[in-house]
Amino acid sequence: MPNVISAKELSKNDLENILSLTGVMEEHYKEGKVKKVLEDKIVACIFFEPSTRTRLSFETAALRLGAKVISAENAAENSSAHKGETIEDTTKILCSYADVIVIRHPVAGTLEKAEKVATKPLINAGDGTNQHPSQGLLDVYTIKKEKKRLTNLHIGFGGDLLNSRTLKSLMPFLRMYEGNKFYFLSPKELELPREFIKELQENKVQFEELKSLEEALPHLDVLYMTRVQKERFKDVGEYEKVKDLFILKKEHLKILKSDAIIMHPLPKINEIEPEVDADPRAAYFRQAQNGLYIRMALLCYVLGL
Ligand code: NCD
Repeated sequence: MPNVISAKELSKNDLENILSLTGVMEEHYKEGKVKKVLEDKIVACIFFEPSTRTRLSFETAALRLGAKVISAENAAENSSAHKGETIEDTTKILCSYADVIVIRHPVAGTLEKAEKVATKPLINAGDGTNQHPSQGLLDVYTIKKEKKRLTNLHIGFGGDLLNSRTLKSLMPFLRMYEGNKFYFLSPKELELPREFIKELQENKVQFEELKSLEEALPHLDVLYMTRVQKERFKDVGEYEKVKDLFILKKEHLKILKSDAIIMHPLPKINEIEPEVDADPRAAYFRQAQNGLYIRMALLCYVLGL
């Protein structure tokens, strides 16, 4: 039973199978010919943290494929977790009702606990600052679609690299392909945790850490911006200090390659000036649309279809 808990557990072969299935899903969707292959299935979406795109695209994906959906969108308040039920007990119950379980939780590592007791396929829709594999998949799908390749790319990650779980699910996929170089662009307070840097060094992955966007922009094929994750700060004053340090401005577009793309998992707050949206290189709304196709493919993948 393939659970999707961490990007690191998927092989290059798994990734390529999911990407090609996603291409088929997109084609069928655009032709209005989606097959109702999940007609007798129920998908449970249990979210202990806010979400717009992830939950609604999983639910839309399930409905498009003919499945039914049960959902707790404010599970921290509205599920028995509020009464103190453990994630293990909640998972056991969900597995006795539904065929696929999609969980988002604020605490890193919660999905590993759930996995130990799950008897149905489990998908991690984001656990704290740890992992968000379906986002990593839709990001890699977007890069492949927009850049026509996954090799020899210069990819800049800007913003909150300390807390971004989407970055931690995208990097393992990009590392599977040769010639890619990473640029980590953040203030000191939000830099990528040293354990990741150490791992990149040990594996001889090419990367640079820079303290401004400007230094990297002319080199990039992909700029992946992230939101400063307010909810992960213990002290709101600390958040206020760093929240506006890395902003992609309209004037930056002049030094970005004409065929580069700008990505963002969304929601964006003020790390990208709204004027950037109109530039054809701004790929983030196209990226979010790809989330639907990836999640259609992922539901089929975990069910072995
Ligand atoms: C991201 C997340 O939840 O990690 N959002 C998403 O799923 N598209 C990024 C974020 O919240 O900043």
